[in-house]
Amino acid sequence: MDILQQLGIELENHGACSGPGGWSTTVKAGKLDSINPATEEVIASVYQASESDYENVTEKSIEAFKEWRMIPAPKRGEMVRLMAEELRKNKDNLGSLVSLEMGKIKAEGDGEVQEMIDIADFAVGLSRQLYGLTMHSERYLHRMYEQWHPLGPIGVITAFNFPVAVWSWNAFIAAVCGDTVIWKPSSSTPLCGIAVQHICNHVLEKNGYPHIFSLVIGSGKTIGERLIKDRRIPLVSFTGSSPIGQRIGKVVGERLGSTILELGGNNAIIVDESADFKLAIPAIVFGAVGTAGQRCTSTRRVFIHKSQFDKVASMLIDAYQQVNIGNPMDGGVLMGPLVNQATVETYLIALDRLKEEGGEILCGGKVLDHPGYFVEPTIAKAENHFPLVQEETFAPILYLIEYESIDGAIRMHNDVPQGLSSSMFTTDLINAEKFLSHKGSDCGIANINIGTSGAEIGGAFGGEKDTGGGREAGSDAWKAYMRRQTNTINWSHEMPLAQGIKFGDFSD
Ligand code: UN1
Repeated sequence: MDILQQLGIELENHGACSGPGGWSTTVKAGKLDSINPATEEVIASVYQASESDYENVTEKSIEAFKEWRMIPAPKRGEMVRLMAEELRKNKDNLGSLVSLEMGKIKAEGDGEVQEMIDIADFAVGLSRQLYGLTMHSERYLHRMYEQWHPLGPIGVITAFNFPVAVWSWNAFIAAVCGDTVIWKPSSSTPLCGIAVQHICNHVLEKNGYPHIFSLVIGSGKTIGERLIKDRRIPLVSFTGSSPIGQRIGKVVGERLGSTILELGGNNAIIVDESADFKLAIPAIVFGAVGTAGQRCTSTRRVFIHKSQFDKVASMLIDAYQQVNIGNPMDGGVLMGPLVNQATVETYLIALDRLKEEGGEILCGGKVLDHPGYFVEPTIAKAENHFPLVQEETFAPILYLIEYESIDGAIRMHNDVPQGLSSSMFTTDLINAEKFLSHKGSDCGIANINIGTSGAEIGGAFGGEKDTGGGREAGSDAWKAYMRRQTNTINWSHEMPLAQGIKFGDFSD
């Protein structure tokens, strides 16, 4: 594999566990095949991490944390800056590996690496801005302030759909905060994890710093369970489905650890009567078809005023006919395969249920009859209350739903268990402001004249309700990766108590 070689990875039976001690040579936990979803062929196999590998990595990550937390934050930022430089050099190769292993088109694979570079740049600036507040003490000659300390080794569990970027949102921010990171990537994308680990740890080695990033590839049942139950890991950041996230929240919560949960979305776009279709149609197509509908931010529902329903539907059907489905590495292709056969089954089951529940397929709906997990992107007419429409199906199925009043559209928009991303296409100021107001969208992300997917890293990313409430990436999301300490200093010669309490005089 040229790409892997160019990324400096020796192919044959790579150990799946790297930490401050290097790559493991354990074979007893068995091999994991990385499959190219466009061909169903094995790209490479790696040995999985055993439970004793996990233990080894965690102990070493704790040791590395003790050293790393004492490095001044701007110097930690400098390491992340150098990692961003390496990512710039490797963008083409790493973007291709993402495309090869996960199945998103090359432009989106490259975009994902760009997202890593962007968050790295953000983290570098942040490394000089980990600000705490100062407060005015109510007591004479007392000073009060807060400071932010590194938290510890952070567990990061990522999904197949963003096999490199989501790690970097967590890892680069955690790194400048002084934390170390133990990463369990999806078992569908081990090679992406290995490649990123090589690139970043090489920078650290060259500069004489400890391996602050560790990788453990293994199943959720063994390695994932160990990680979430591990009291030495104060924070677990998890990206994946709501049911698994609910369990992780419970297990980590029981030991009073913290979580950042980035779970399912059921993202919708409202297209009102004043909308500019030249903006709305491409945004809906990118949101629904991009990454083959396998983003947590993918557009799943579109609310259209009943007077314009047929027009918008036919414009979308027309656009869908122009979507070239094929090998994601080939130029001109807009949609690659789904990640695996199980997801193809999920797609088919969803379409059967759609018909049973009263929906109507307007275009698409078929599995392509050649190797690879290819399906047609599908548009269906549906109603918001259908049980299927209430769920997140991780496949390119778009539900078009009619509305009569804008208030009714917003009500239906919010009437799902999830609350990640949302958008309205409008040129009507009042509708736009209503959508963004307290009685508007209940999601973590709400956009006007921008689709639901493709968020920039500068904002805090995450959602409400069954989406889990976590926030990652920009804004002040860094605070979750540090512990806050409130400090009060008495520089007087008196011992006054707060709230004016008098408690005897024991000064003699
Ligand atoms: C995800 O699907 O888990 O906003 C993350 C987006 C991307 C990130 C998606 N920047 O679509």
